[in-house]
Amino acid sequence: MRRFPTTRPRRLRRTPALRAALRETRIDPAGLVLPLFVHAGIDAPAPVASLPGVLQHTPDSALEAARVAVGLGVRSVLLFGIPAAKDALGSSGWDPAGPVPTAIRVLRDGLGDQLVIWADVCQCEYTDHGHCGPLDPSGAVRNDDAVTGYVRDALAYADAGADLVAPSGMMDGQVAAIRAGLDAEGFAEVGIVAYASKFASAFYGPFRDAAGSALEGGDRAGHQLDPANRREARLELALDVAEGADIVMVKPALAYLDVLADARRSVDLPLAAYHVSGEYAMIHAAAQRGWLDGEQAMWEATVSIRRAGADLVVTYAATALAEAVAT
Ligand code: PBG
Repeated sequence: MRRFPTTRPRRLRRTPALRAALRETRIDPAGLVLPLFVHAGIDAPAPVASLPGVLQHTPDSALEAARVAVGLGVRSVLLFGIPAAKDALGSSGWDPAGPVPTAIRVLRDGLGDQLVIWADVCQCEYTDHGHCGPLDPSGAVRNDDAVTGYVRDALAYADAGADLVAPSGMMDGQVAAIRAGLDAEGFAEVGIVAYASKFASAFYGPFRDAAGSALEGGDRAGHQLDPANRREARLELALDVAEGADIVMVKPALAYLDVLADARRSVDLPLAAYHVSGEYAMIHAAAQRGWLDGEQAMWEATVSIRRAGADLVVTYAATALAEAVAT
């Protein structure tokens, strides 16, 4: 009698060629989205200490970075702006001469429709207190006033030529208001990526250095989701779908793969996941110490996010991943 009669899964894992042929999930550079920080107050790109390989860009250096990414098959960038001046309302967010509208024009001029341009819509980079909109006397973000600002931001980015605007502030009603605003001003073609399930996460730490949006007190727990809540994430997702989102996003990614898998089952819209700054920084920090293989870990993290159901992955490693899969 044979002891191991029938199933021998190891047959199919024997050689690299067999493994590559049978891989269920792949990283396609066309599904990667590269975040770019554009700083209005610098003449030359500046490194971000906590995000190795990430720069604060001028519009011209953002174009160069986008050109390299596009050359490797990446199709999309996600823009964040760091303005020259901030105020309590965050009014530099909708300045047509601000960093994001300026960068959109430069990118569109340089790369035309080869590039899909996403513009993040939030006020936290533009307010002097670092919160996602104007505050009431108790220090809470005023929901509807924040949304009014987001509509103005979205219109400025649409007017500059963005393909997609991506409201990340987690204010109630933001997607519906932006959709109505865009439609009313003749921007029916501009889509909305809703940061639908965005958690109040410690993994955003390095982003706040990169975007110069450190909080002057308080936190974002009054509007972002509690990390413990899976059902509520589904509810938020359904609301944004009902409000007219074209693409929905889960953020962060790795600690929320259950949320992502739920989203894949409950929504047929394109699904994005944001592998956020802290997730990227952790891998680099450990790799710098020689504690793990950074390139392998980045691939594994990204392929896990794809396996859980994301069509699109927003990642600071987009260019490096695209380069790695090309070779
Ligand atoms: C703005 C915004 C944040 C991120 C994306 N958009 C910061 C925050 O909500 O505090 C985080 C991205 C990252 O960590 O990579 N609201």
